[in-house]
Parts: sequence; C-alpha cells; structure tokens
Amino acid sequence: MSTTTASPLRPRVTTAPDGAGPGPGPAPWWASAVVYQVYPRSFADSDGDGVGDLRGITSRLDHLVDLGVDVVWLSPVYASPQDDNGYDISDYRAVDPTFGTLEDLEELTDALHARGMKLVMDLVVNHTSDEHPWFVESRTSPSSAKRDWYWWRGPREGMEGGAPGAEPTNWRSAFSGPAWSLDEASGEYYLHLFSRKQPDLNWENPDVRAAVHEMMRWWLDRGVDGFRMDVINMVSKDVAADGSLPDGRDADPRTGLAGGGEHYLCGPRIHEYLAEMHAEVFAGRPEALLTVGEMPGVTVADAQRFTDPASAEVDMVFQFEHVDLDHDGSKWHPVPLDLLALKASSGRWQAGLAERGWNSLYWNNHDQPRIVSRWGDDSPEHRAASARCLGTLLHLHRGTPYVYQGEEIGMANFPWASAEQLRDIESVNHLAEEVGHGGDPAEVLSRVAVSSRDNARTPVQWDASPSAGFTTGEPWIAVNPDHARGWTVADQADDPTSVLAHYRRLVALRHDWPVVALGDFTMLVPEHEQVYAFTRRLEGEGPDGAPAADELLVVANVGSSPVDLTDLLPEAVAGPGRDLELVLGTVPGDGGGDDADVAADPVLAPWEARVLRRG
Ligand code: NOJ
Repeated sequence: MSTTTASPLRPRVTTAPDGAGPGPGPAPWWASAVVYQVYPRSFADSDGDGVGDLRGITSRLDHLVDLGVDVVWLSPVYASPQDDNGYDISDYRAVDPTFGTLEDLEELTDALHARGMKLVMDLVVNHTSDEHPWFVESRTSPSSAKRDWYWWRGPREGMEGGAPGAEPTNWRSAFSGPAWSLDEASGEYYLHLFSRKQPDLNWENPDVRAAVHEMMRWWLDRGVDGFRMDVINMVSKDVAADGSLPDGRDADPRTGLAGGGEHYLCGPRIHEYLAEMHAEVFAGRPEALLTVGEMPGVTVADAQRFTDPASAEVDMVFQFEHVDLDHDGSKWHPVPLDLLALKASSGRWQAGLAERGWNSLYWNNHDQPRIVSRWGDDSPEHRAASARCLGTLLHLHRGTPYVYQGEEIGMANFPWASAEQLRDIESVNHLAEEVGHGGDPAEVLSRVAVSSRDNARTPVQWDASPSAGFTTGEPWIAVNPDHARGWTVADQADDPTSVLAHYRRLVALRHDWPVVALGDFTMLVPEHEQVYAFTRRLEGEGPDGAPAADELLVVANVGSSPVDLTDLLPEAVAGPGRDLELVLGTVPGDGGGDDADVAADPVLAPWEARVLRRG
C-alpha cells in the first residue's frame, strides 16, 4: 500500500537560485517536467484493426492528464513500410495510414496543447527507409544526383561483390548480419547500421543536412514542441579523406563481424552537426521546446558537452550505461544486475552533469524489457512494491524522468513461449541467426524472452476485457494475460494504494518541490548491496526572502528481504530530537499508515522506499 505525508506538497523554496539549472540563469521548464512515451502501435486502437493509432491516443488523454505528465514523446507515426515498426521512414511529412492521417495528428497535438501538454516527435534521420524517394533515386545509378546522400562503396579490394567477407567494412548490423547490402545492379554496397531496409544517410553531404533541417522546421511550424532524436550520435562516421571507412576491432571469429561502434558513435563531426542543427532549426524560436538525443555509447564527458547550454546542441541525452550493466557484452547474454555497479554508474552521471548539462532518467522505453521484471521482482508478492520502489528511485534523481507507457501500472514482461509470438525484427533475426549457427532453439528463445524489445511492446492494459481494452479486433502482438489479474489502468485508477497512484504522486512531487527538480545529489552507502540511498539538497530563498534550504533523504530497499537501517543509516530513521518527515513512502507503517511511525521504523520492508525531508 502506498501512502504520502498528510501535509500538502508545498515547495519550501519558491525560487530556483541561479545556477541550479543546467547552466547559469534560471532553470529551463523541462527541469521540472515529466515526459511520457507513447509507442503508438501498442497504445490504443480506435478502429479495430488490431494496431494502435492516433485517434486511439487522443481518446485516452484523460489517463495522461490524471498522471500529470507534461510532455508526450510519440514514437514514429510517419509513412513507413514498418520493417522496424516505423523507425524506417519513407516520407517524413506524412502519417502512415496504419496510424491515421495528418489531420488526426493535428487533432492530437491540439488536444494535448489544450490540456497543457507538449508533443515531442521522434526524429529518425540517421537512416531512412529504402522506400524513401531519396534512396529510391540514390540507388538508380552511381551517377544519380542523390547517390552521395547515402553510403555507397565497392566491395573490399580484390574481392567480388557478394562473396563472403567482401563487404566494405566488417561492421555488424544491429539487427544481425553485415551492415552492408549489395545492390546487384551497380555492384556496390550500401551501409545500413540497422536493417537492410534502413539505409544510413550520408551526413557528410551538406544537402542531406539541409533537407533534414528543413523538415524539422516544417514540423515545428506545425506546432510540434521538440524532438527525440533516434541514434543521433551515429550520424558522423569516421570516414578517411579517400572515402574509405575502417574495420571495427575485435571481430567475432564465428561471423567475421565487429560492432564497429568506435567508428560511428560520437564520430568526428558530431558536435559540429548538432550545433549546426541547433542554429538552423532551434535558435531564436520563442517556443518552449525540448530536444533529447538518443546516444548509445555516450560517455559522461561527451554528454556534458552535448547538453551544456553553452554548446547549444541538445537539452539532454539518453545514455545507455545503466541498461548495459546486466548483460555480458551482448544484450542476449543477460547477467544479474550488480546494484553496486548501478549506483556507481548513476552516481557518476549525477555528478558529471551537476554543474553543466542535464540528465534524462529512464528505466523503460520501447527497446527495453519491463523494469519490474528486469530489476524488480514480478512475483505476485513483490510486484507492486518493487514497481513503486524503482519508480521512486528514478523520479527522485536529478534530471528529467521519462515514463514509458504501462510502466505507471507496473506492466511486466510477457511469458514468451514460442518464436511465432515474437514480432520484433531484432529478436526474430537474432533467433534465426543463432539457430542457424547451431544454437538450441529453446535455449536461444529463453534468452531472447528475457531481453526482447517485444516485452515493451505488448499492448497497454486498459481494463480486464479480452484484449485489455486495447482493441476490439485481433491485436498485432499478444496481450499479457496478467491484465485479467489487476494489472490494468481501470483496476488501479481509483485505488490510492496502486502503482498508478504512486506514479501520480511522484510526478506531482517533481512539479511541486524545487528540491526534486533542482537539488544537488549525493549518493550514500555506495557499497551496500541492497540499499540505494541518496540526498537531494537545494539552497535558496524561502517565501519570506530569507535564506532557506530543503534537503530530502531517499532510502530504498532494492530487494525482497527486509533491511535494518539502524547501523547502516541511522540518520534516515526518525527518533527523539530528529526532525524527519515522511514526504512520500511506499508502504504503510505498523500504525496503519501514520507517517511518524513509518519514518521511525528502522526496518525497510522488502522493496520499500521512503522520501524523507529534513527539518
Ligand atoms: C533506436 C530506436 O529506439 C529503435 O527502436 C530503432 O530500432 C533503432 N534506433 C533504429 O531506428
């Protein structure tokens, strides 16, 4: 059961002091905002074809209003052959009929704006679809005016096109196999870091960049409030003066392929490109916009530069360090999470972006398995508590939190039982590749089931009806059977003890308490294997103008057995002479939810989290 303090959530510090934001000056609006990600295919279906759509989203906005989020990030709805569920775009200015029309999108934008929310679109410009007219023209011949808009290269020297290993580099595609495909007609290969239907654009060509900028301005002029930029740190490749691209290191002896990321992640011109984009697209616009760059492999030092307002590149980045901690090299080889490593990582990111720059905070998105199954405990006994606990941890860090659809009701991974149930190109290709190399199908499936992106893509569970209220038709992907056991919006909406109610409180806390949005961060007990604890502190000015400070102490038990704080963190336990108030907790106290009792209990229940305020 969740409980909050009886006192209203009132800010003690009303003015953010200069410098509390990502750079000098007042804090930007998004410092106290919460973003909600909608994956349109799986959110809500309005026309019964089994696939979510724009009208479905518009019909469910009350849920987002109740949750209190400020921004919706909409995964791609553009025209697309849907090879990668819309991350393969064939027309940047059209809506795919699967999702509706441009008018439907306008209606959604207006409806969000009317409710005080903003709309951030996905921007997928590392690559297009191979059905985009730019690529169609590019592939017509080596002399095409658009040939240089993509990466075309001949076979490796001395080799025949199509021969094993003849690809121009040994880079592996993120979706299995080589990152180059041969165009039989010209005898040249084109680069695709993702599927063969997602050819990479050549950002070295200024016409490509200008076309992207123009398209972005077009969307902003239509009222969109910013962009989440798909793998944006892959757009600058390590190309030599003679046009060649280098091989990646540490090739897998079995396939001859290497990741190659050292040659295209945060490449040599990335800062130049993003600064140029900022100048061409965003500079001088009066609207309150948001930009977030998805950046696999980005380091703290890179992120500082990308998000320092003085660099004028992007507002924040999605980094991957934490979600890479629970696997061994490849995402398909999961290992248990080491909590110490997680704390060390987030502590470094918090410290690294404390003075300049800004963090985004996420556990989930459309590419990640569900957090309650991944780092929580999705057994019936602990599922709700662990969902609340992990939500509390995320939302109490400094940065902008992102909630992925369904996370707010504790949605869990799907119990995948057969390969036929999978839809995701990455999972399907990996399974085929491994089985092709002699892997045992059941063993490979069991690993894919843990890490598959499809875990994030099962439909949002609105109610207990047969397709969870997602569609009246046949859903494009299986619905999690646990929607019949209380894991729905309808079940949780009016229950003050639900995961959903707790997420509402977390969102409100960030809005109402400047210390949550802007306070500095100090990690406590970094060596403890089950307790995740930190403080947030903000110096400022009270309502009377006098100097004031707010300090929060966050303690969480990241495990399914109780933990006694008596010796570990005595300062986190209320007692005589200690002025400690429970602002937000996840379980009631022995006294039936009395805050003082909870704050004074030295034992944290399994997955209990407390947000305490020092007087
Ligand atoms: C990252 C996106 O989040 C993912 O879903 C997509 O498959 C790749 N980029 C390629 O666009």
